[in-house]
Amino acid sequence: MERFYTFVFVAGVGCFGIAFVLSMVFPWMSLKEYHGMEYAKLDQLAAHPSVEFQQLEEAYPDAFKAVYPEGATPGNYAKALRAGRDLYIGQACWHCHSQYVRVVSNEEQRWGPPSEAYEYNNELNQPHLWGTRRVGPDLARLHGRHTNDWHIAHFLNPKDVTPYSVMPSYAYYFEPDGTPHEEGFALITYLQWLGTTFNPTHEQEVYPGGEGNE
Ligand code: HEC
Repeated sequence: MERFYTFVFVAGVGCFGIAFVLSMVFPWMSLKEYHGMEYAKLDQLAAHPSVEFQQLEEAYPDAFKAVYPEGATPGNYAKALRAGRDLYIGQACWHCHSQYVRVVSNEEQRWGPPSEAYEYNNELNQPHLWGTRRVGPDLARLHGRHTNDWHIAHFLNPKDVTPYSVMPSYAYYFEPDGTPHEEGFALITYLQWLGTTFNPTHEQEVYPGGEGNE
């Protein structure tokens, strides 16, 4: 009987060990072998400031210069992305918004194929902000969905653009005429970045100029 229990114990610990190792090996294989994609640091992600970041500079030159004296440089783009993500966390946007396209409910009809590990394999997505609730829509692939102007109008008063919205107003990040404060610039820059790592064909470079693209 004693030997039986020893056998069960060793088998249990062994199976646990195998599961533990495999749960590291498979994600690593999927990132490294299949997508050929290394973990991207913030400066790689920010190497090419987005069109939307540059448009904010064009639309609000004085306010932009006050926050980012050197203009829409990669360094300032990185700063805005980091600050935007910090605000997104601090304001608990994740309490109402997920950043994960799920495999259920025909979600691909709205957002495309379910989210994959490689989309999160970068400094701005870790720890990831998948979220658990969806009071508002998923934001994982928000990029390109709305203009900067739409975001400003929406933050000032969500009901102006979506009549029955329950999203709170974030007007305190903007002047009454819509000119963003530092927080407004950062939040919009971060939102416009979301989903730019989504690369369904796995052909074009996701982080142009970044290291690790094979
Ligand atoms: C109380 C829940 C709640 C909170 C908190 C919240 N939102 Fe929302 N959000 C919503 C709802 C509901 C909608 C859909 C209606 C609308 O467009 O306003 C929405 C819509 C959006 C949209 C448009 C998405 C699309 O696909 O059109 C964006 C962008 C957005 N929210 C960003 C944010 C950000 C950034 C924060 C934090 C600063 C935030 N939300 C906080 C509930 C919330």
